[in-house]
Order: sequence, then C-alpha cells, then structure tokens
Amino acid sequence: MDESIKKSIYDFFSLKDKVAVITGAGNGIGKATAKMMAELGAAVIACDIEKEPLKQTMLEIIEAGGSVEALTCDITQPVQVKSVIEQVQDMHGTIHILVNNGATMGGGKTVEKVDESEFNRLIDVNLRGVYRFIYEVLPIMRKQQYGKIVNVSSVAAIAGDMTDIHYSAAKGGVISMSKTLAKELAQEKINVNVVAPGLIKTRMMHEWEIEPALKRFHRIGEPEDVAATICFLASDAASYFSGQVLSPNGGEYMV
Ligand SMILES: NC(=O)c1ccc[n+]([C@@H]2O[C@H](COP(=O)([O-])OP(=O)(O)OC[C@H]3O[C@@H](n4cnc5c(N)ncnc54)[C@H](O)[C@@H]3O)[C@@H](O)[C@H]2O)c1
Repeated sequence: MDESIKKSIYDFFSLKDKVAVITGAGNGIGKATAKMMAELGAAVIACDIEKEPLKQTMLEIIEAGGSVEALTCDITQPVQVKSVIEQVQDMHGTIHILVNNGATMGGGKTVEKVDESEFNRLIDVNLRGVYRFIYEVLPIMRKQQYGKIVNVSSVAAIAGDMTDIHYSAAKGGVISMSKTLAKELAQEKINVNVVAPGLIKTRMMHEWEIEPALKRFHRIGEPEDVAATICFLASDAASYFSGQVLSPNGGEYMV
C-alpha cells in the first residue's frame, strides 16, 4: 500500500496514547489484534493463559517497535483478573480499551455430549470470563468517562452452528450482555460493541469446515480481518457505535 495512504488510514484509526488490555493475545485473532493495536500506537497489555505463545506475541511486538507488556492470566480466576487490572493501573494509571477475545472452543460436540459440567466449563471461560474483565475495568473507565469495550462473539451466536450448543449459548450471552451494557453506559462515554467473526483461519477452525466454506466464499478469513474490525471499534473513529455487532464473515451471514 502507498505509504501516504497507509499514513492517513493510521491517523484516522490512531490508538496513540491509549492503553489497551487484550485477552487471549497469545494466539490467532487476539495476537493479530495485539500486534495491530501496537502498530496503531497503543500501549498493549497482552494477556493469555498460555505462557509461551504470549511471550512470542510480546517479542514480535517489541521487534516491530511497539509498546507491550505480557501478563499471564486465566480468565476463569477472578483473583487473577483483578490482579491484571491492578498491575496495569500501577504501570499506566489507566485503561482506555478492553478487548475480551480469550475463549475456548466447543470441540464439535453434539448435544448429548454436552453434559452439565462441560456446559458450565465453557460458559465459565467464554461468558463469565468476559463479565469478569468488564467488572474490574469499569470503575476505571467510569472515573475517566472514557472507554472502549470490544467483546468477541461468533456467527454461531446469531445464526447457530451444527454442534456446540454451549459455545453458541456463551457467545449469544456475550451479545446480550454487551447490548445491555451499551445502554447502561451510554451517558458515560463508554462504548460497548461486539465483533462476531465467521470462519477464521486459526487453530479454532475445524479442518472439515474449509472445503464447504471455499465453495461459498472466495477465501477463508484471516485473523487480521477480525483484528481490523476490533481496532476500528476501539478507535475514536467509531465513537458513535455502541451496542452494535459487526460480523467479518465474508458474506456467510448477513444481519
Ligand atoms: N477462529 C474462528 O473461526 C472464530 C470464529 C468465531 C469466533 N471466534 C472467536 O474469536 C476469539 C479468538 O479465537 P481464535 O480463533 O483466535 O482462537 P485461538 O485458540 O487461537 O485463541 C484463543 C485464545 O484464548 C486463550 N484462552 C483460552 N482459554 C483461556 C483462559 N481460560 N484464560 C485466558 N486465555 C484463554 C487461548 O490460550 C488462546 O490464546 C474467540 O473468542 C473465539 O471464540 C473464532
């Protein structure tokens, strides 16, 4: 891309001087988002349960000249979530952007294989994990009357999937929770939006999904397709968006 065009796009979506916390930043979409946000000028706090991939994200951002800290965190553990937010407060004094991306997959389970413990396990990561981070970050955003929260859901939440009722239920909950929060926080200049990706080339994608998808669309989505949507919603360019669901899905599903 022409450097001057790239510069004007970067200026428009600039995240300069913003502090951004991103969960699930060790792999896939979260990693691409962390790298893109750092490139857009944000001070990135990359969180993940997996230490080695998280370290790799950090190294790649540092190599590219970005600002990053990596904090290991299991989003199912309230004490760890609280500690991450306290550490970020100590380091930066504030948080402007929260991206709730960390999640686990359903594993292609049909309903009879989703017993109550499996259902609860997935809800604990994919829905309660989102709630936990929002709960800890909100007092900071409220105090400064500024905040951008972007929660990652899925097309499975709006169009359903062939399996994994627990995954769809959790991702549906993410959308409902975000819409209510958007209304509750509208007067406080805190935007809450959702990105609901279609099929994206990460380890979460099943091999068997590729061929049928390629028959319908010209390509499979890349993590950067989702990262760009998240960065847009986290930027001031999207300050009139709240309670919205943007779905980078190549046309698989249309709202
Ligand atoms: N890949 C797709 O096709 C697709 C489609 C729709 C939605 N999504 C959503 O996109 C987001 C990113 O997924 P991805 O495709 O990049 O998959 P991924 O597995 O590459 O990334 C998910 C990240 O979340 C982390 N994570 C899992 N459990 C955690 C926990 N308890 N605490 C902290 N971190 C934890 C993982 O370690 C991993 O780094 C997820 O919310 C996922 O549900 C993905």
